[in-house]
Amino acid sequence: MRILLLGSGGREHAFAWKISQSPLCTALFIAPGNAGTKGLGQHFSFSVTDFEAIKACCMQQAIDMVIVGPEEPLVKGLVEFLRAEPLLRSLFIIGPGQQGAALEGSKAFAKAFMQRHGIPTASYREFTQENYQAGLDYLQIHSLPIVLKADGLAAGKGVLICATHQEAILRFEEMIQSSKFGEAGKKVVVEEFLQGIEISVFALTDGKNYVLLPEAKDYKRIGEGDCGLNTGGMGAVSPVPFVDAILWEKIKSLVVDPTIMGLQKDGIPYCGFVFFGFMIVKGEPFVIEYNCRMGDPETEAVMPRLQSDLVELLAAAATGELKNYVIETDPRTACTVVAVSGGYPEDYKKGFSIQGLDQLPDSALVFHMGTQQEGDQIITSGGRVLAVTAFGNSVTEAAEAASTTQSVLQFEGKYYRRDIGFEFK
Ligand code: AMP
Ligand code: GLY
Repeated sequence: MRILLLGSGGREHAFAWKISQSPLCTALFIAPGNAGTKGLGQHFSFSVTDFEAIKACCMQQAIDMVIVGPEEPLVKGLVEFLRAEPLLRSLFIIGPGQQGAALEGSKAFAKAFMQRHGIPTASYREFTQENYQAGLDYLQIHSLPIVLKADGLAAGKGVLICATHQEAILRFEEMIQSSKFGEAGKKVVVEEFLQGIEISVFALTDGKNYVLLPEAKDYKRIGEGDCGLNTGGMGAVSPVPFVDAILWEKIKSLVVDPTIMGLQKDGIPYCGFVFFGFMIVKGEPFVIEYNCRMGDPETEAVMPRLQSDLVELLAAAATGELKNYVIETDPRTACTVVAVSGGYPEDYKKGFSIQGLDQLPDSALVFHMGTQQEGDQIITSGGRVLAVTAFGNSVTEAAEAASTTQSVLQFEGKYYRRDIGFEFK
């Protein structure tokens, strides 16, 4: 099978690493990729939203399967665009069409979907310019803290948790009246705050059946002990120790089953990953978000634990054969530790040379997130730079091993959390 993988982060490096182990993969193409994916497949420099270039590549390279890593091309309609080309009729596409991707692309759509299908989530109301005054009145009497969500894609910055009514009103005004989040924030979801523990669960679905991948916990805050600003994710552990058979069963019956059934009832075809962002409140799962893709850095912890052939699994999703598919997983704990550029998630510099990559044993799992090849050097090119994953028989062991590997890698301004998995040690 000739495969085109779209994306350039750690998630895509982990996918590429796993795909390249499959005997079913005869050729792997990556666009645009990063310095870490270089050795795993042929690269093209076009962006993930250059639909014409993606289509041309699929035709010229006789691609059998496209795997879409990030959400943006899905939300913008890549699947419909490729499906409109008669010559690509038999192409397998891993990633939903625009309606399915709206589960991530529109918070208001996702909330209405959950409400319609009885899926547990925080209670909410949505507001625009049209019912702005009603929104202000609602905020005045809302319990604290108040969660405000820009409806559209906002590069992970569209969720605000406001401690006071004044702050909530100010932010609400900025979103709707001053367009602080552009079009994405012209509609605002105001949501009840849920206090609990967050976990990430991933389904791969063909639209009717699904398989669940191992769950993970992402560490979103920049600082140790979960303090400071929110980031794209500073590390992950999988499995999550408190997720037992009872919780897993609730996750399936209360959320995953009704989500997949809901897609069918609503007539939304879906082939790809559904990422459920959960808040577990006193043992009960509530959905705080859907994503139409895998998580990053969760993929870097989950892919190494997947023992089944990923290409075979994705092909089964594309051909509607996931029923009765049983995946094999490594029972050990995987811990991923992310190294970021100094200053991230605020302003940071790029272009620093990375040392130490050639001093690691071949068995070390290093997934590049924001790197670029420049001559014979590998340089930093993003906020999140390198993810290291290690296994252990406990979170403590896995985290220790991942930190040890991280300590070998050097670049100016490098920072990583040394406490990933801390609450499970
Ligand atoms: P999202 O972009 O929807 O993942 O939201 C970003 C972060 O905001 C989540 O990872 C949570 O930590 C937090 N968050 C979102 N919704 C809620 C909520 N209803 N209650 C508490 N925290 C939330
Ligand atoms: N790690 C969270 C995300 O990928 O959205």
